[in-house]
Amino acid sequence: MTANGHAKNTARRLLTTRMALALGFGVLLTLLVLCGINAVSVISQLQSNNENILQEFLGRETRLDELRSAIYLSGTYVRDYLLEPDPARAEQSRLALVEARRQIQSMISLTSTEPDAVGQSMYQALRREVQEYSRTLDPVLTWNAQQRHKEGYRFLHDDVLPRRSSTLGIADTIASVNQQQLVERDHRLVQTFSSLRNRLMIAVAVMFLCGLFLAFATAIHILRLEGQTMAHLKEVTGARQELRNLSARLVDTQENERKNISRELHDAVGQSMSAVQFELHDLGVALAPYPEPLRTRVDRIRELVESSVAMVRNMALLLRPSMLDDLGLAAALEWQANQVSRSTGVRIKLMADALPGELPEEHKICIFRIVQEALNNVCRHARASSVDIALVAADSRISVTIRDDGRGFRTPRTGGLGLIGMYERADSLGGSLTVNSEPGQGTSIEVILPLPPRPAPARPSIQSMAGSRRE
Ligand SMILES: Nc1ncnc2c1ncn2[C@@H]1O[C@H](COP(=O)(O)OP(=O)(O)O)[C@@H](O)[C@H]1O
Ligand SMILES: [Mg+2]
Repeated sequence: MTANGHAKNTARRLLTTRMALALGFGVLLTLLVLCGINAVSVISQLQSNNENILQEFLGRETRLDELRSAIYLSGTYVRDYLLEPDPARAEQSRLALVEARRQIQSMISLTSTEPDAVGQSMYQALRREVQEYSRTLDPVLTWNAQQRHKEGYRFLHDDVLPRRSSTLGIADTIASVNQQQLVERDHRLVQTFSSLRNRLMIAVAVMFLCGLFLAFATAIHILRLEGQTMAHLKEVTGARQELRNLSARLVDTQENERKNISRELHDAVGQSMSAVQFELHDLGVALAPYPEPLRTRVDRIRELVESSVAMVRNMALLLRPSMLDDLGLAAALEWQANQVSRSTGVRIKLMADALPGELPEEHKICIFRIVQEALNNVCRHARASSVDIALVAADSRISVTIRDDGRGFRTPRTGGLGLIGMYERADSLGGSLTVNSEPGQGTSIEVILPLPPRPAPARPSIQSMAGSRRE
């Protein structure tokens, strides 16, 4: 499969996974929300139903109680009215009875309308009975004292009391039905609660299974992604390491190539040019008897050859300064600084006095090449008037700072190979390179290289013997 096809496949798979996850979580959340809404609405409905039922029950109970007590009272008034010998008191009782009757009438019209047929018929019976009861009382209200005395007891005993008992009996039945209804409704409430509980339990179980499935799928997905990431990381680390090895090999090869070219230039070209110089010298001597112009031309050729020899030597030195091996790093850097200073006019100050006696070959080459490229950049880009180069060695590391007062640049700058090469050289020895620069602020490059542990400490006599060398 091509890389493009592979990428498309991966994107499609990722999209499918995302959609599946979004769907799963969406369903789970919707279930959760629906369940919550349902439970809350059922509970609040039950609560309000419960309150209504209770209030209705209490209202009915209160009205029935009031009715009952009014009936009892009316019975008492009837009795007082019928059996009272004192006419004034009898009249008082009669008025009280009339009032009690009026109250009973108004109460019976208030007794509630029942939603169910049984309740309605019971209330109708109660109403009928109450009306009968008050109609029973009607005739006595107009009786005189004699009639009351004569008929009173019998009327009370035969008409009022049975009627009153049956009325109260119906009221009691209604009260007990009322109680029963309350119990039934309580029972229904409990049933509704238990069905809600069952529904909630089923919903929770479904959600739990959904969540479990989702968690499982997500965990598998994450583990797979983790595995892929680890594999990619391994690949990238491997590739980076390979790249590092490659660039180290490149630097090595470049260095060897330069060494070879430098040797060829110095040995082959330099020697044959020296031979030409000797020949020219001999030719000059042999031409002594000949006219002046001829000798002058030979002298000019000799000067040209001399300057060519110097150029070749400089080239050879730049490619691979033999003084790096012969005189050490500080001397080679000084020579390099002089060369640059002379050709560009930039003032270069080198501080490399406290370098250790011995530096590893690759450290010397690395520092020399980095300084070489940094000075090269100063000449090409910085328009600087002065450069300070400082080398400081501590026990386990050596640091090199090249600071110019030129126009600076915005870091990080990519594009050129010079800076990359500098980074790679420092990196290949386990060191680091930092470029600090701002437009208008000059540039400072700091290299820090770790030094390998020194061999055994040198004996004083050997150190004094090496004292004449620069490093
Ligand atoms: N000392 C400096 N002063 C100003 N600009 C610099 C300096 N050193 C580097 N630069 C900037 O950084 C860029 C990259 O440098 P480098 O990697 O050596 O590539 P090159 O020298 O081939 O352009 C340069 O083109 C230049 O713009
Ligand atoms: Mg450069």
